[in-house]
Amino acid sequence: MKQLTHPVYEIASQVADELGISAYAVGGVVRDMFLGRKSKDIDIVVVGSGIAFAQAVAKAISPHIEVSVFKNFGTARFRYENTEVEFVGARKESYRADSRKPVVEDGTLQDDLNRRDFTVNALAIPLNGPEKGQVIDCFGGLQDMNDKLIRTPLDPDITFSDDPLRMMRAVRFASQLGFSIVPETFEAIQRNAARLEIISKERIVDEFNKILLSPQPSWGINLLKDAGLLQYFLPELLNLQGVEVVNGRGHKDNYLHTLEVVDKIARVSNNLWLIWAALLHDIAKPVTKRYDEKIGWTFHSHEFVGSKMVGKIFNRLKMPANEKLKYVQKLVLLHLRPIALVEDIITDSAVRRLLFDAGDDIDDLMMLCEADVTSKNPEKVKRFMANFAKVRKKLEDIEEKDRLRNWQPPIDGLEIMETFGLGPSREVGIIKTAIREAILDGVIGNNHDEAYQLMLTEAAKLGLQPR
Ligand code: CTP
Repeated sequence: MKQLTHPVYEIASQVADELGISAYAVGGVVRDMFLGRKSKDIDIVVVGSGIAFAQAVAKAISPHIEVSVFKNFGTARFRYENTEVEFVGARKESYRADSRKPVVEDGTLQDDLNRRDFTVNALAIPLNGPEKGQVIDCFGGLQDMNDKLIRTPLDPDITFSDDPLRMMRAVRFASQLGFSIVPETFEAIQRNAARLEIISKERIVDEFNKILLSPQPSWGINLLKDAGLLQYFLPELLNLQGVEVVNGRGHKDNYLHTLEVVDKIARVSNNLWLIWAALLHDIAKPVTKRYDEKIGWTFHSHEFVGSKMVGKIFNRLKMPANEKLKYVQKLVLLHLRPIALVEDIITDSAVRRLLFDAGDDIDDLMMLCEADVTSKNPEKVKRFMANFAKVRKKLEDIEEKDRLRNWQPPIDGLEIMETFGLGPSREVGIIKTAIREAILDGVIGNNHDEAYQLMLTEAAKLGLQPR
């Protein structure tokens, strides 16, 4: 039989008995116990004060446990045995139409379960009393779990207007668990989708990231599209849809292609930012699309325009403007480079340049490029993969020889300034670039002596002599 196993339950049980109140495990922990998933946090509901109960349980464990109290929300939590345990008094809640601020009153367990988002999240297990350990399932959550269904306990219009983020959560759980959303609930999302606009971008992105990290993100992304939610935070993705045909020539549907690439990456990596790069790698195709009578459809510079769009999208979604953003931009910008390499004869200098530009992210870039091959023609796929294998080999050889990852040229700006008695200036930049380019092009070796000679020659061209 499935059981709640964390040691906090038994202690909470004893304390609840001593205080003569009822305590229940609820929400995610109960759902995850039945699904055999690992839960992050534990939620405990008591009929009475959640804060007082949390303090009593903490005291029973150890006088040193620090309890964080959130008076405004009537909740308290502490960390015990690597788990956040949160306590709340059972409540009735309703929200005003124009705000997320709830009007909260004390309630019964039934009231508390009524106001939860989905039937699979509205299960409770009593921690004490005669029903201890027997699941309370008022809305058929166990059956829905069995049938793999997401359904709201109450009229979905009420559940979603209480908290519109739940529309994103419905899709997120469906995507994480491989569940479907029942038609009644799904239609309510379609009706209420515009209410997503009152939800902060951070909370939307939190849910969206969980969808991207789910086993098959396309499942969730398609649900977001069909529910009408995607247009409120990532309309650029919708613009990738469709095939245009001119003179009998079409191009691939970039939306379907993108989802295929995302799913392929999600199968082999749980690097959220690599998945974002897959999602946005062709994002500028619609805006760069042209039809050329001779060659057909082109998307010139979509990698460059795309990397700029990544910045705008991250900014609009209040996502980090840090090295994660730079990483996604870099992969989008470079995503055509490895394949371009195999189309020409692979020169050492082109490989060196790619290594220099990609740095430590070269392996992720290669993963993205291989996933980018979604042709249905097995011969073509075979040829591309064989070519990528050649590029990988070449990358390894050159890396072995030149150690170009995170490479710095053997002469830096400081040495140039000291040699010629210069301050920071245009000349220093010119000489530095000349040295770097000569090494990347293989004109000189990657060592200090040759770089020094070149520095003297380049400086002389600028009329500079060593001090
Ligand atoms: N809940 C809700 N509406 C929300 C958020 C949460 O009804 N907008 C309820 C659900 O009953 C949920 C519980 O609060 O099970 C805990 O929420 P949370 O910790 O956010 O999610 P979990 O269900 O635990 O899932 P996960 O840990 O995967 O986020």
